[in-house]
Amino acid sequence: MDLGELNGPVLVFGGPYSNLSATREMKRIAEQQGIPAASVICTGDLVAYCADPTETVSLIREWGCHVVMGNCEESLAASAPDCGCGFDEGSACSLLSVQWYAYANNRVSPEQKFWMGGLPRQLRFSLSGRQFHVLHGSVTSINDFIFASTDHGYKAKQQQSVSAEVIIGGHSGLPFVSETTEGYWLNAGVIGMPANDGTSDCWYMLLEPQAEGIKASWHRLTYAVNETVESMKKAEISAAYATCLQNGLWPSLDILPEQEKRQTGKAIELRPILIR
Ligand SMILES: [Fe+2]
Repeated sequence: MDLGELNGPVLVFGGPYSNLSATREMKRIAEQQGIPAASVICTGDLVAYCADPTETVSLIREWGCHVVMGNCEESLAASAPDCGCGFDEGSACSLLSVQWYAYANNRVSPEQKFWMGGLPRQLRFSLSGRQFHVLHGSVTSINDFIFASTDHGYKAKQQQSVSAEVIIGGHSGLPFVSETTEGYWLNAGVIGMPANDGTSDCWYMLLEPQAEGIKASWHRLTYAVNETVESMKKAEISAAYATCLQNGLWPSLDILPEQEKRQTGKAIELRPILIR
């Protein structure tokens, strides 16, 4: 789907993960900054680890921002037996996902699943004359884990295949920027779970047209973590993820490459970049 020319600034966020309180705060910030829903993009996975899947989907739809289909939406829409993350069988991620996926699958309504099935898999837009391509995993796979450490040649080939200077991805849960021979691969981070940096903060990204180019900047999202933890305790699900919301450390590092594993518990520093 091509959104055509967007008016800046554009706000991008990933993975609400059924975290209603964080999603409410993200919406409030967008409204406070005067960014209309037409200039807000979510990179998918509305529903995952936390306890309010239906309410989070309803809030996002009421907001009316753009949403790219994540593997969680793809799986729920198809009534698939699991979240489709592609975790190795028997791994900690796989075992943990069984619980939250069953919980979400039992609550998300058939109408919400139908809506999820109609979401675009990729979005394009232009901003100040630059082409942006938004997706969940990669061009070729919705559950491809792309990180800062992922081979830049691989990223560049993906950019070439869609003729975009900038790809914005989701899925991996960590905010980052990679400069490639073709331009940039950006990840806004996620608002539903911390970034494994030892803080409870989540992340989002702003794209702001300026005279010299487009400024991309990453921001911490602080919200009422206790509300989300309480709702998870009441629902008696995902204790490991409830702990992660508070201490900022992922319950499993299975999906992380070595470089990202070494960053565990270290404060993330992401400086703004200028896309010329
Ligand atoms: Fe995902």
